[in-house]
Amino acid sequence: MGHVLIRQLCKSFVERRAKRRTADTDPLVRKGDSLSVLDNIDLEFQDGELVCILGPSGCGKTTLCRIIAGFDYPTSGVLLVDGKEVTGPTPDSIFVFQHSGLLPWMTVWENVKLGVRSLNNKKEMTERIQEYIDIVDLKGFEHLYPSQLSGGMQRRAEIARALVGNPEILFMDEPFAGLDFLTRLRMREEIINMHELIQRTIIFITHDIDEALVMADRVVLFSDRPARVKMDMKLDFPHPRDFHRDPNLENLRRRVYSDLGVHYAL
Ligand SMILES: Nc1ncnc2c1ncn2[C@@H]1O[C@H](COP(=O)(O)OP(=O)(O)OP(=O)(O)O)[C@@H](O)[C@H]1O
Ligand SMILES: [Mg+2]
Repeated sequence: MGHVLIRQLCKSFVERRAKRRTADTDPLVRKGDSLSVLDNIDLEFQDGELVCILGPSGCGKTTLCRIIAGFDYPTSGVLLVDGKEVTGPTPDSIFVFQHSGLLPWMTVWENVKLGVRSLNNKKEMTERIQEYIDIVDLKGFEHLYPSQLSGGMQRRAEIARALVGNPEILFMDEPFAGLDFLTRLRMREEIINMHELIQRTIIFITHDIDEALVMADRVVLFSDRPARVKMDMKLDFPHPRDFHRDPNLENLRRRVYSDLGVHYAL
């Protein structure tokens, strides 16, 4: 499960009140003005796919994910998750954000336990929590508090908490944004390994083109707002992916950069 079908989906936000201009050049925002954010989006994500979404800041990436997860609704168009219309948020869609959402007064174990859904059997629950702590490679750190963990470990604990509830779709909205470069590289690898293990649909938003091309089964590239699909490509390159060793991957990388108007410093 975790199949997503989107057809001709549009989203506009209507201003509830007039806004002061932030700069002389900004157009005046009046009450009732409409801001078109998503324009005729056609996409299909297969069950278990790791989809990376790229696009300029403010184009509508988070908005699309919020709509798929049922936190917002489209203005028009079709959205089906596992063949059914989305009518609101469910525990089948879980978000992991850029900033840590761990509760600082709880240990890793207790934080992960918060994500468990309706398991009455204590033994089964304990096994399940341990299983996901192991998957994210935090075995031995169960009884530490978030402040005693590195940024990458905190992110992994959050991922374990998201996965332990067995969601159909895991949304990751720039989850590595605050991490240093090396930790980020390691986290990429860990997401790839974890995805191979759990085979769940992951929708991963990033601004990092290389990150997307190294990780994804499918890459979606959005235009400036209102977001249109500029590229939707399935990637069949085997893991681990290396731009230096695979000329086809390197060519694709150059094409994506070039589509975004970057022709130098590659
Ligand atoms: N609830 C809302 N009401 C009004 N406008 C909104 C609302 N949510 C988002 N927007 C507007 O929709 C546009 C797209 O926002 P969104 O957060 O989806 O962008 P994004 O692609 O995720 O950007 P970033 O890469 O910076 O996170 C922005 O112009 C934003 O101001
Ligand atoms: Mg966003």
